[in-house]
Amino acid sequence: KAGYFTYDPGFLATASCESAITFIDGDKGILLHRGYGIEELAEKSDYLEVCYLLLNGQFPDQEQSEKFHHVILHHTMIHEQLAKLYQGFRRDSHPMAIMCGVVGALSAFYHDSLDVTNETHREITAYRLISKMPTLAAMSYKYSNGQPFVYPDNSLSYAGNFLKMMFAVPCEEFKVNPVLERAMDKIFILHADHEQNASTSTVRLAGSSGANPFACIAAGIASLWGPAHGGANEACLNMLEEIGSVENIPEYIDKAKDKNDPFRLMGFGHRVYKNHDPRATVMRKACHEVLDDLNINDPLLDVAMELERIALEDPYFVEKKLYPNVDFYSGLVLRAMGIPKSMFTVIFAISRTIGWISHWKEMLDQPGLKIGRPRQLYTGEVGLKIDDVKNRS
Ligand code: SDX
Repeated sequence: KAGYFTYDPGFLATASCESAITFIDGDKGILLHRGYGIEELAEKSDYLEVCYLLLNGQFPDQEQSEKFHHVILHHTMIHEQLAKLYQGFRRDSHPMAIMCGVVGALSAFYHDSLDVTNETHREITAYRLISKMPTLAAMSYKYSNGQPFVYPDNSLSYAGNFLKMMFAVPCEEFKVNPVLERAMDKIFILHADHEQNASTSTVRLAGSSGANPFACIAAGIASLWGPAHGGANEACLNMLEEIGSVENIPEYIDKAKDKNDPFRLMGFGHRVYKNHDPRATVMRKACHEVLDDLNINDPLLDVAMELERIALEDPYFVEKKLYPNVDFYSGLVLRAMGIPKSMFTVIFAISRTIGWISHWKEMLDQPGLKIGRPRQLYTGEVGLKIDDVKNRS
């Protein structure tokens, strides 16, 4: 596309697929969704509009927007039978473990009636997932802390409904804090899609066999859970808590540079960005806004800011082009909002569901779908003969 990029042949050889959904230029720190910059989307749009954009390729007009918001916000309940599934988990189960189970279980509720070759069925699948992920997620939190599930309130916004299902209790009135509501919606926007990351590639590969899309999304949730991927926001906060104070930072910087030490600076580095992650820049601003608006003075923010300053000046990180990524600040914002660490990656999964299902839909919308079948370089033995077990050493 004129002025943006020209792919060199070497890059094309590594490309796993073609997609028109998201564009990343890792060297320039550019992230576009359907041609729109992430900075403008975070400032001027809302998550459900971004969902429509990712799914359909353009922003909705007034009527389409109202209809889409209504459809999504009025399909937020889940089957009561599915709610019983939570009882099968230990109370101390990690919410991501629960999400892998309950989202996968949706495939049992939507299977016989679902034909993935039918475009309308694909659209309905996307809508159901966007609608129900916050409900399933909030229930995984309520189950872990022993509080009763809170039913969705369809009069609220997408983010507001999630916050109410997370924090409301039957014995008290609950009012959505507009500062938290806006921050939550912005976090949803910033994590919505990111091209062919590990979890999205997982969903594409699973979906390429024609598998049930709800089961494919559960596979994406499993991949996202890893600390090198979506689990990094929780791991980053654990790291900041372990560092504990600004005085301890140099010791951890040295550990991160020691090739013999497995320690990595969580929230730093990226497979693609070799410049600032544009999402981290927006998240950093949101972090300060939320803490200022809520009048919170979080000592871990001081540690994070000093760690960022030192790392950005350190020749090791400069030479390896390691910059803070989206996960470096998202954990601090979520912590300021009162969200427990165990729910950080679950919130990433709520947001990324639109990315996963948009890529799934884009792949199935393309005619002549072929099952994904990566090849390998074989490095094992050849031509061996079996010895009798008595002769084996
Ligand atoms: C996400 O793919 C996506 O788009 C993912 C994501 C999305 O939206 O889907 O953006 C979300 O997953 C963001 C990344 C979250 N993960 C973390 O913050 C965990 C900490 N980061 C590292 O684990 C690491 O940076 C990775 C896994 C993200 C990338 O690792 P790579 O592929 O090894 O990165 P690289 O090739 O750029 O590394 C260059 C060098 C290597 O050392 P050498 O082999 O050159 O000696 O830098 C080192 C790496 O070992 N390095 C780090 C480091 N990250 C890379 N050293 C210390 N601390 C780090 N965080």
